[in-house]
Amino acid sequence: MLRAGGLVAFPTETVYGLGADARDDRAVARIFEAKGRPRFNPLIAHVTDPAAAEGLAVFDERARALAAAFWPGALTLVLPLRADAGLSPLVTAGLDSVALRVPADPVAQALLRAFGGPLAAPSANPSGQVSPTRAGHVLQGLGPAVDAVIDSGACAVGVESTILSLLGPTPRLLRPGGITAEALAAHLGKPPAEAENPENAPRAPGQLASHYAPSAQVRLNARTARPGEVWLGFGPDCPGAALNLSPKGDLVEAAANLFEMLRRADALAGPRGVIAAAPVPMTGLGRAINDRLSRAGAPRPAERLTAPATSPSEGSPAARNPPARSR
Ligand code: TXA
Ligand code: MG
Repeated sequence: MLRAGGLVAFPTETVYGLGADARDDRAVARIFEAKGRPRFNPLIAHVTDPAAAEGLAVFDERARALAAAFWPGALTLVLPLRADAGLSPLVTAGLDSVALRVPADPVAQALLRAFGGPLAAPSANPSGQVSPTRAGHVLQGLGPAVDAVIDSGACAVGVESTILSLLGPTPRLLRPGGITAEALAAHLGKPPAEAENPENAPRAPGQLASHYAPSAQVRLNARTARPGEVWLGFGPDCPGAALNLSPKGDLVEAAANLFEMLRRADALAGPRGVIAAAPVPMTGLGRAINDRLSRAGAPRPAERLTAPATSPSEGSPAARNPPARSR
């Protein structure tokens, strides 16, 4: 299917990706159609190993050392695009840089090896919505737009890869994710610089304030639930929480549960309900979890300008996911 220009969703250790041949313009265009993703938002190219990655981007010593330390794994490196990379310009959105990742998941690895080329793969969800960590999430979100989904159960890590840009003299963290800032700091000798002004000048649209958004509103730092709210707990101090990311307070377990529980909380809350998310510490994977929770809770652009929608078609997918929210 991939060789014929099809879209095949596949598991990685972070989230399910929506894969297409990264060298095929038409196949890559279908990814943008299926997700409703803006074409200025570039995709990650997935490859089997660092050697294949070096065929697509210009690696310096820093990049080689990071690849040796963290690949295969949940780190995406943004590097200068090689002139002879052969990627569809849609993958890079016409930029002269490319985001590369070598996934560790054995099914992703087997697929990449069998395919024998780079796969462009964003998270396999409609743009702006919660990322899929199970095959069923992909079908719920994208349905017939996908030619096939390889079902290998729940993703082990559960939050997207960490994106690190090596385009400038200092490595910049564009998105916190499955490789912790602490692990990067230990490797780099100091914490990576933060992306500047992420909301107004996003280098990665996952940085946009409203992203990973369920239909319900999300209230952060909820130490208790108010009447009618669905309490998404973390740790042992959340008695009566409808769902708990990790009753024992384990951040790895919480990351693995995050998107599935956000979906379940969303279904319990309903489109105009509120999910009350308990505080999660800002260490380790907690940083990526807090990043996704705060984006899920950010006001949608339409809500910043107008009162909450009271459209007669409210409840229909179109009304719950108006274009203004799409990313
Ligand atoms: O864990 C992951 O990274 C998953 C799995 C499937 O690999 N993929 C994923 O892809 O999260 P996506 O498209 O949802 O997020 C990729 C992010 C986007 O925010 C995009 O803007 C950014 O990577 N990106 C891609 N190319 C870039 C570039 N050249 N410069 C800066 N950001 C880039
Ligand atoms: Mg995504």
